[in-house]
Amino acid sequence: MQRNRIFNPDGNDAVAGRTIIRGNTTGLFNLNAVKYPWARSMYQVMVGNFWVPEKVGGLGDDATMYRNLAPAEQRAYKGIISFLTFLDSIQTVNLPHFSDYITSPEVNLLLSIQSFQEAIHSQSYTTILETVVDAREREDIYYFWRDDQVLMERNRYIGSIYQDFQDRPTDENFFRALVGNYLLESLYFYNGFAFFDNLAYSSKMTATSRMINYIRRDELTHVALFANIMKEIRREFPAMFDAGTLAEMLRTAVEQEVAWSDHIIGDGVPGITKATTGLYTRWLANTRMETLHLPPLFPEVVSNPYKHLESMADNNSEKTNFFESTVTNYTQSSSMNGSWDF
Ligand SMILES: [Fe+2]
Ligand SMILES: [Fe+2]
Repeated sequence: MQRNRIFNPDGNDAVAGRTIIRGNTTGLFNLNAVKYPWARSMYQVMVGNFWVPEKVGGLGDDATMYRNLAPAEQRAYKGIISFLTFLDSIQTVNLPHFSDYITSPEVNLLLSIQSFQEAIHSQSYTTILETVVDAREREDIYYFWRDDQVLMERNRYIGSIYQDFQDRPTDENFFRALVGNYLLESLYFYNGFAFFDNLAYSSKMTATSRMINYIRRDELTHVALFANIMKEIRREFPAMFDAGTLAEMLRTAVEQEVAWSDHIIGDGVPGITKATTGLYTRWLANTRMETLHLPPLFPEVVSNPYKHLESMADNNSEKTNFFESTVTNYTQSSSMNGSWDF
């Protein structure tokens, strides 16, 4: 792979000749001249999604409610937050490595916003943990992956893919890192999200759930961003787009997501069973393939077992006026999806 120069005065920023990788741009950010129209609308939505965890109220009530959760629910709550914290941390660190090789300044602009958002997500877990959980338990939650073999294996898998790309930035490792990122954003933590939706469905831990909804709104843009990067790669450099690698990695991601969710949630939480976890993960995998205009990996699974939880994903009362005094028209990513798709 060809790494971008930090200062490239001989670069050519002409939009017509711009490519997503292997181009020769100066790196100048100029949203008045973009090659990829989806990047411009995505920029507006990502910036419009700005939020900060301190503004999400009600965590004190969650602290009281947490003590009344069943032990299985408490264990799942802590384990899922531990995994989410790890993922957001590694995303913040790794995303700039993609920018080293992407030669569309407008796409690199989006990756910068994404890095910032992943940092906010890490902060949100800190905010939750410092209010809801006993101080003695916090360290155990942050470093749960060190002693838990199932979580360690998952973290090692995605960590190795990113590390291989950094150590040996070949075409193949770049593509694997892109796929790894897409799967992390689109599949890795969705049973965790479903767990919080499921609690909120029973009016439990509703402030945590609101926080998760802000995070999920950001994640929707991250899924779309990496889907679009991969589609541009397929269009401009079809030899690099390896559908076999994608399918193999998606299959592994599904196996790991199911194994981890069965381990940390299992059958002990009302509303979730190992059967629904398996179905939901496969259904989700199919939708992620569909986004890339690829056939489903599990054609026998055609419906979402958590359809009744979908309304929980939209229960942010603050959503339309988060900073009411300064922002009156608050963009919602879900309504903008159409303009990013191609
Ligand atoms: Fe995140
Ligand atoms: Fe993300």
